[in-house]
Amino acid sequence: MPDIQVSLWRGTANGRYQTFSVPRRESQTVLDVVTWVQRNADPTLSYRFACRVGMCGSCAMTVNGRPRWTCRTHISKVAGDGRLEVGPLANLPVIKDLICDMQPFFDKWQTAKGAFAPSASRADPVATIPPSSAPRRAADAGIECITCAVCYAACDTVRWNPDYLGPAALNRAWTLVNDVRDAGGRERLAAVAARGGCHTCHSHQSCREHCPKALNPVASIAGLKRRAAAAYLRGELG
Ligand code: SF4
Ligand code: SF4
Ligand code: FES
Repeated sequence: MPDIQVSLWRGTANGRYQTFSVPRRESQTVLDVVTWVQRNADPTLSYRFACRVGMCGSCAMTVNGRPRWTCRTHISKVAGDGRLEVGPLANLPVIKDLICDMQPFFDKWQTAKGAFAPSASRADPVATIPPSSAPRRAADAGIECITCAVCYAACDTVRWNPDYLGPAALNRAWTLVNDVRDAGGRERLAAVAARGGCHTCHSHQSCREHCPKALNPVASIAGLKRRAAAAYLRGELG
């Protein structure tokens, strides 16, 4: 098999692509290619990964113009012609090479009140939540998020409006809004209904199309819009 010609982003926002020739292997992933370059051609190449099995969300990059998790993206799927271009995720500051600063992403997670607010103490009995209940099913729909920021990088509204909380933080908020054990509901709803929140979403579906976990942040955001409107009409949002 001929080598893969991979162009990797080097430097910061004003960097450039540098091309390497990487031996082709069976069942090779984009992350395998990047790792080969770092181990065999240029040890100064910077990139992130941890689990290599699609669980940690740290390996996301822009692959041939599209945000993807690189540890589960096979070369055969994206580089049939043997050419690959890999850059850092869009919509986040570039620290170096393929590494972005995730701080804005997680700051927005906090702004959306993405942390569980317990309504009981450890002295209380464990809550029993029927798996088939409507709130449980609504929470389940978005709970598998691995915080990879692929959806955030794919969202044009984030690009146009840096204040927009983005699909992942809002998806997380929807999960917690439906968690019957959580006590932060009203405060969270007020946070996501504020400027830059759920009403900023244009519903153009890029987040859903790109999410590697096949989640649907658009549906979560639509749920938040409905809940926020109802809370507003009840006079609960001030
Ligand atoms: S549907 Fe909303 S959150 Fe998803 S990509 Fe479009 S604007 Fe962004
Ligand atoms: S919603 Fe999907 S794409 Fe967005 S951070 Fe979570 S797992 Fe990644
Ligand atoms: S390295 Fe953990 S999701 Fe890719």
